Amino acid sequence: MRILLTGGAGYIGSHTLVELLANKYKVCVVDNLSNSNIEFISRVQNITKKEFKFNLVDICDHNALSKVFESFRPEIVIHFAGSKSVKESFDNPLKYYKNNVFGSINLLNVMDKYSCSKIIFSSSATVYGNPEYLPIDENHKVSPSNPYGHSKLMVEKIIKDWSTTYNNKSCILRYFNPIGAHESGLIGEHSHDHPNNLLPIIENVFIGKENNLKIYGNNYKTPDGSGIRDYIHVVDLAKSHVAGIKFFDGTKSSDVFNIGTGKGNSVFEIVSIYEKVAKKNIPYVVEGRRKGDISESVADPSKARTKLSWKAELTIEDAIKHSVNWKLKNPNGYNN
Ligand code: NAD
Ligand code: UD1
Repeated sequence: MRILLTGGAGYIGSHTLVELLANKYKVCVVDNLSNSNIEFISRVQNITKKEFKFNLVDICDHNALSKVFESFRPEIVIHFAGSKSVKESFDNPLKYYKNNVFGSINLLNVMDKYSCSKIIFSSSATVYGNPEYLPIDENHKVSPSNPYGHSKLMVEKIIKDWSTTYNNKSCILRYFNPIGAHESGLIGEHSHDHPNNLLPIIENVFIGKENNLKIYGNNYKTPDGSGIRDYIHVVDLAKSHVAGIKFFDGTKSSDVFNIGTGKGNSVFEIVSIYEKVAKKNIPYVVEGRRKGDISESVADPSKARTKLSWKAELTIEDAIKHSVNWKLKNPNGYNN
């Protein structure tokens, strides 16, 4: 089976690439390296000792993408490429609508041109907005509260219409909060810009790049007052894509799945686990709530368990152990 990965050099894409190669799929990566580096491609080769193709191509470039399809003829596309910062999406919404929405439409057009009829799409729990009940199942209403979230929901809808109209197949995965790294410490989360997510910031405090962690709010209605999230090990998340490929063997044409653990941890709990695993103090200051933040987000992942035969296996301690290992080995990302 030939699988094309857009954004396959990125954080989730590179971990998924490892799992696909371990499962003997033929893989081709398309990435413009806007938020990654060719070094991660070499490192995946190092981990897997397997061959795969890489093309430095922007998904918005119809001609360049067509050439890749012409030569590789993918049967399935796993679509990670896109921009993912909520903060940046408030400052530059058009970048998000161009890269995420236009880029996806361009990709679907090229897929049509080459009769590729199956797509797995990286969506986000951010499409649910502020939850009305917990844990969040796939029937929860969608109500994103930022341009990034709007762009993700738009692409979900476009893909759904595309599958229905042309009798194509789609599997939409709504990721909760991916953290951790490959146990080799060779690949992990990297961002060209200053990170906004919790774990990459704690990692920076751990190696002394930042003085302290700012905890955004201790007055939420949670047991310790800090925000609660469903943190999932990136390797478990990567494996959900292999499960997604098998979903296409079934009769259903299009479906959406939460990809999370079903368990929540607060910011204070994460700091405490990190300190225990890293054997180092993580200094913090409590600040006011961050714009757009919600109190709690925890997945009901039972649909993925029943219909994809997938569930998260690794623990939060595993994820943090691998995050510490990644940062110790790569204090400056790929450029040590
Ligand atoms: P990432 O930035 O590490 O990976 C995205 C990759 O896509 C990068 O390698 C980047 O260079 C590439 N890319 C971006 N625009 C491109 C374009 N126009 N053409 C070709 N390549 C392009 O991000 P990630 O964390 O691996 O996220 C992957 C996907 O998962 C994204 O679509 C993101 O919205 C979604 N997602 C991520 C999270 C998260 O917390 N990391 C949560 C929910 C959903
Ligand atoms: C953020 C995005 C969300 C996106 C997700 C994964 C916002 C408002 N939301 O979600 O749309 O899908 O990342 O990319 O940006 N925290 C701190 N200090 C920090 C950073 C975070 O206390 O320096 C807290 C947050 O308040 C939150 C928790 O840590 O309670 C997790 O934050 P983060 O990793 O940014 O994820 P989300 O808020 O879930």
